[in-house]
Amino acid sequence: MRLQLRSAISHVNEVWAIEAGGVMLSAFADALPWEWIHNSARWTYDESRHCHMGYERLMAWGLDPAEIPLGTYIYESASGEDPIYRLGMLYFFETKNIKHKPVRAQLFHAYGDAVSEHDMDFDWADETMHAGYGKHWLKELLAVRGEDPAAYDQVRERCEKLVRDYVGTATALEVDDIKKVAAGLFAKAAQKTNVGAGVPPVR
Ligand SMILES: [Fe+2]
Ligand SMILES: [Fe+2]
Repeated sequence: MRLQLRSAISHVNEVWAIEAGGVMLSAFADALPWEWIHNSARWTYDESRHCHMGYERLMAWGLDPAEIPLGTYIYESASGEDPIYRLGMLYFFETKNIKHKPVRAQLFHAYGDAVSEHDMDFDWADETMHAGYGKHWLKELLAVRGEDPAAYDQVRERCEKLVRDYVGTATALEVDDIKKVAAGLFAKAAQKTNVGAGVPPVR
């Protein structure tokens, strides 16, 4: 149940990726070719679908939107930085978690939760394509700026550091608050009889 809940909350939290997608589409619309606009618009749309899947899953379980934690730290850790770090953040997170996704889809299958399995499968397929977009466009952007395209991995590494530093500023009170929210959700989800049941897909 915790993994089902965590996965749906993780999907709804992809709202940060929608925002980052819109910012970067606009920021590089003039510097990069038309294909960039096409790819980044698709990317932004995909992230909004992932977010929507999580939202629908949580609502189908009867949870209250006001009780679902939304983390702003990924978005905010790139604020005030060169917008290349918006693209870098998406690339970093596409590649960071991808290995867990097929494993989790199989677990959901084993639980008989076909909707969570479907959502994770969808997400995994899209993220594989997005990881390719991220690498390609980071290299292209560095090239049009007259920088070394091979430095794309340094952008990714700096994104990792920006997030780590931002998370490092969390106070004990903030950590305690989020743990209380999580505990409340676990308790509520444990009482629901339909978590894990085959609620049909929303699309
Ligand atoms: Fe996503
Ligand atoms: Fe993605």
